[in-house]
Amino acid sequence: MSLAIVRTVRDLRNRVDVWRRAGRTIGVVPTMGALHAGHISLVETALARTDHVIVTLFVNPKQFNNPADLAAYPRTEADDAAKLSPLGVDVLFAPDGEEMYGTGFSTSVSVSGVSEGLCGAHRPGHFDGVATVVTKLLLQSGADFAFFGEKDFQQLQVVRRLVSDLNIPVEIIGCPTVREEDGLALSSRNVRLSAEERGIAPRLAKILFTAAERLEAGGPVEAILEASRRALSDAGFDTVEYLELRDSETLRPVERLDRPARLLAAAWLGATRLIDNVPVGAQGILQSGGIT
Ligand code: PAF
Repeated sequence: MSLAIVRTVRDLRNRVDVWRRAGRTIGVVPTMGALHAGHISLVETALARTDHVIVTLFVNPKQFNNPADLAAYPRTEADDAAKLSPLGVDVLFAPDGEEMYGTGFSTSVSVSGVSEGLCGAHRPGHFDGVATVVTKLLLQSGADFAFFGEKDFQQLQVVRRLVSDLNIPVEIIGCPTVREEDGLALSSRNVRLSAEERGIAPRLAKILFTAAERLEAGGPVEAILEASRRALSDAGFDTVEYLELRDSETLRPVERLDRPARLLAAAWLGATRLIDNVPVGAQGILQSGGIT
């Protein structure tokens, strides 16, 4: 079946109704386009798990706290459609701003707790914008499963929380971060890095993985976090917004490694903001009662 490009919620729902009546399962992969191998791996997971797959493409103005970032965000719909077409995706849902936020639109979905701190502290309003658009996309598509990358780990936890709180009948599937060979997490923003910045960028992942190893080996939490922040600055990152160890579910700060945790960081290289995160908390450490 060929890829259908759908612009309206009504058209999307008509197609979904047909699949539903035939007893088929539906997966949705929300994106803002500029698709890379990370998105494609989400799509492949969705194709393997569900009968019909919808990819959404909407550059959501509500989640950009910086107008220059919104203006510079790559818009590559024709290329995106060409990448999805051979994979067997059924629908590319690409509404315009008016279809998404028509005249008089006045509703915002705001998730407290997990959206606070980390990116939430540095991008005011960002997670309200994400929560609002994701709620709409889940309700518009009526999907049984929705696929999100762990690369945006805080976003994933925000989405899990809102789905649970609002009783949206969808299962959220978190999928592992896809990396370049040198470790750099794939991101649509990587294309903005200069050659020099691209050389520095993989240090973010390396520093996080090294810190995770040291934490799992029983090293002192605060000293390792501080040394890792310094290592990012020394590597050439211009601003280190945060590098923190958090509970992997609640995202509350963790001072003692006695539960599954996540090490998360955001740092700037020139005009590009990079984020990454890695799991921390080897089974052995957790079973032995944790380490300080
Ligand atoms: O991760 C993204 O690309 C966006 O935040 C999402 C989930 C598509 C919402 O606009």
